[in-house]
Amino acid sequence: MPATGQSADVASAQEPAPLRAPQTGHPPESPGAQDAPAIRASRTAGPDLDWREGGIPVSTRFDDPYFSLADGLAETRHVFLAGNRLPERFREGFAIAELGFGTGLNMLATLIGWRAAGRPGRLSYLSFEAFPLAAPDIARALAAFPEARAVADPFLAAWGAGRRRFDLDGMAVEVRIGDARDLLPRWEGRADAWFLDGFSPAKNPELWSEALMAEVGRHTAPEGTFATYTAAGHVRRALAEAGFTVTRQPGHGRKRHMTTGVLGR
Ligand SMILES: C[S@@+](CC[C@H](N)C(=O)[O-])C[C@H]1O[C@@H](n2cnc3c(N)ncnc32)[C@H](O)[C@@H]1O
Repeated sequence: MPATGQSADVASAQEPAPLRAPQTGHPPESPGAQDAPAIRASRTAGPDLDWREGGIPVSTRFDDPYFSLADGLAETRHVFLAGNRLPERFREGFAIAELGFGTGLNMLATLIGWRAAGRPGRLSYLSFEAFPLAAPDIARALAAFPEARAVADPFLAAWGAGRRRFDLDGMAVEVRIGDARDLLPRWEGRADAWFLDGFSPAKNPELWSEALMAEVGRHTAPEGTFATYTAAGHVRRALAEAGFTVTRQPGHGRKRHMTTGVLGR
């Protein structure tokens, strides 16, 4: 989650200019890329990275960091895991979905929680990502989080080989490459827990639109939940409109608020 996300209440409600396809931006070996027909995404191809002191990757396309400058792993645990009441709710067949795979830090924090929970069965983790990072960039980003980096080798090996579906200790990971606005409506499944982790709504409005939040609601299992670092008013309203009971909660560290929700109720 980007550090700037918190100030997003001022985000413009207007629809973003349509993003247009970076067909050239996807590794040709990616099965996800073949799955995605008309990818709307992208202002141009590739993620366009810059590096901040401390090894924090910053998207120059969106002018926002990939995760919090202040202990991204702790913030991931606070916002996405605790915000969805995980790992407590883990059970056989539990399904997590995410908007914005980025460096895979959220996925690795989930893997650590899944392993520690020691539940039998399988967990599924599906993420939507328009601008996949290259494996060496992901490895460089993860170096800031030794605990996550320590479990990342099998993921990095699969990712570097162009695989976008792989199993990590009973956690079935799939990353669908393309614009979430195109891919999510065509997803056949439903998630028990959503990680909403676009760049800040002010800088990446397409990943927070009312239409996409409605799709999140449509793709949530009964009693399913979402969590996000942002407390932007228009995002909260869109999620309420999508059928969630929305709650503002204390954010991580110096961020005042974040948002969680339960479908229905
Ligand atoms: C804050 S980063 C996600 C960080 C990530 N969850 C992690 O653990 O590193 C936001 C991500 O959303 C992706 N993104 C932005 N717009 C998108 C879109 N329209 N469809 C799919 N992904 C998008 C970006 O490329 C970026 O990887």
